[in-house]
Amino acid sequence: QRQKSTHVVWKDLNIPRLERERRHGHKSAVLWFTGLSGSGKTTIARRLEKLLFERGCQTMLLDGDHLRHGLCGDLGFSDEDRSENIRRAGEVARLFFESGHIVLCTFISPFKKDREAVRALLPAGQFFEIAVECDLEVCKRRDPHGLYQKAIKGEIAEFTGISSPYEAPEHPELRVETDLQSVDDILEQLLTVLHQQTIFL
Ligand code: PPS
Ligand code: MG
Repeated sequence: QRQKSTHVVWKDLNIPRLERERRHGHKSAVLWFTGLSGSGKTTIARRLEKLLFERGCQTMLLDGDHLRHGLCGDLGFSDEDRSENIRRAGEVARLFFESGHIVLCTFISPFKKDREAVRALLPAGQFFEIAVECDLEVCKRRDPHGLYQKAIKGEIAEFTGISSPYEAPEHPELRVETDLQSVDDILEQLLTVLHQQTIFL
């Protein structure tokens, strides 16, 4: 955090989240997808959001490739900038959470401490860390944006998995393996977890 806000008083939200949840017919939730570039975070979250939206859920998808054009357009890929990126994404997720949304967040979010800080913003049972696992060699082969090729040639510095670290989650709410499971399988698993945690009222 670059600057501390001083002399700012705290005000409660105007309309309590529980009232919003009751109206929407489901609880708020944050689904935090973390994994290597090309592991399938965006693909899975986009499919899941469509399903939820079609069921009438209030949804919002926050994706690294979107936020980095606007809110986080001033940030690069140093460890420090990635931490700030995730801090901001977490705060935005919290705002949508408080407004009654099921928020799907797709960021590499390579550092455990940053993901834990986001988790700490949200009530237990409504935050789901989803480890999107995929063998690095498969990610390299997929290379949806040609970035691995560039990173391997040294044209992109600090690329996750090549020249920048990725800390895998130890106790995620859900682990999916996109090089072994079908997307449909993974969607079913995700819906099951949301049912089990009574996100759908
Ligand atoms: S992070 O680490 O969570 O702050 O990254 P994130 O905001 O998710 O942004 C990742 C996307 O940015 C592209 N990109 C890079 N990724 C990793 N390392 C480097 N150096 C880099 N440069 C650009 C890449 O397309 C990532 O998208 P995904 O969808 O994850 O592949
Ligand atoms: Mg993506």
